[in-house]
Amino acid sequence: MRIAVTGATGRLGRQVVPLLAGAEVVQLSRSNADYGDQQALRRAMRGADKLVFISSDGEAAKVLLHHQNVIAAAKDAKIGHVILLSGVDADVESPFCYAHTNGVTEALLRESGLDFSIARAALFAEFFLSLVGQTNARLPMGDGRITLIPRAEVAKALAALALSPPTGTHHDLTGPETLTLKDLHGTDVTPAEFIAELARSDEEPWWIYAYASMFESIRQQRWAKVAKVTPA
Ligand SMILES: NC(=O)c1ccc[n+]([C@@H]2O[C@H](COP(=O)([O-])OP(=O)(O)OC[C@H]3O[C@@H](n4cnc5c(N)ncnc54)[C@H](OP(=O)(O)O)[C@@H]3O)[C@@H](O)[C@H]2O)c1
Repeated sequence: MRIAVTGATGRLGRQVVPLLAGAEVVQLSRSNADYGDQQALRRAMRGADKLVFISSDGEAAKVLLHHQNVIAAAKDAKIGHVILLSGVDADVESPFCYAHTNGVTEALLRESGLDFSIARAALFAEFFLSLVGQTNARLPMGDGRITLIPRAEVAKALAALALSPPTGTHHDLTGPETLTLKDLHGTDVTPAEFIAELARSDEEPWWIYAYASMFESIRQQRWAKVAKVTPA
């Protein structure tokens, strides 16, 4: 069994690789399979039975292009099972930029004819808590509720899905309980204040937009789901 993993050198991917017991793992990253390079992706996936598809990052238009390339290469390589990392908020109607890219990617995968399983992860605990630190917990969360999941738990669930037959559906990977701004010892600020404070701290425009759109989706309670079954 040969399993290709995108983003294999990243903080999540490098925790997935050692969990793929018994499989020959092909680690994909910029050096051998740039998301922007169709040919390289095809070459790297040749002969793989399964693909753990950890989503790309950065500006949304580029992410969508990257995801189209990965799915086209997976089709070309006749991958038997694609395990996609998506998000709990995967909805093209959401204000969150990555809910849009995840919604489109899920649709592309479903329409591709490839067999698949989709892992919809909650907010990564390490990512979100780092943002809490960066902003001194001044967050435009209103009464939004979230759950947090450590990357290690997401890695376990992705590996478990990869070592099982395709489920043809999505699986929510969430934390055990919802958290409010109060639980995070945070202070509510308006979206405008949040944006202004990030801009003053020299955060890049793309990330200011991405974070602001994420908090809009949090206020809409799009991250409040708690999965009934703990992943993996
Ligand atoms: N649910 C959440 O809260 C949340 C939060 C943040 C991110 N995410 C998603 O989770 C994914 C994984 O997160 P992470 O923390 O593991 O990310 P990470 O540590 O930044 O790792 C990124 C991975 O992608 C690879 N990569 C970067 N640019 C590439 C390119 N142009 N072509 C091919 N590979 C490329 C990197 O490889 P190199 O070794 O070549 O750099 C690395 O393996 C993110 O990409 C994002 O889609 C989710």
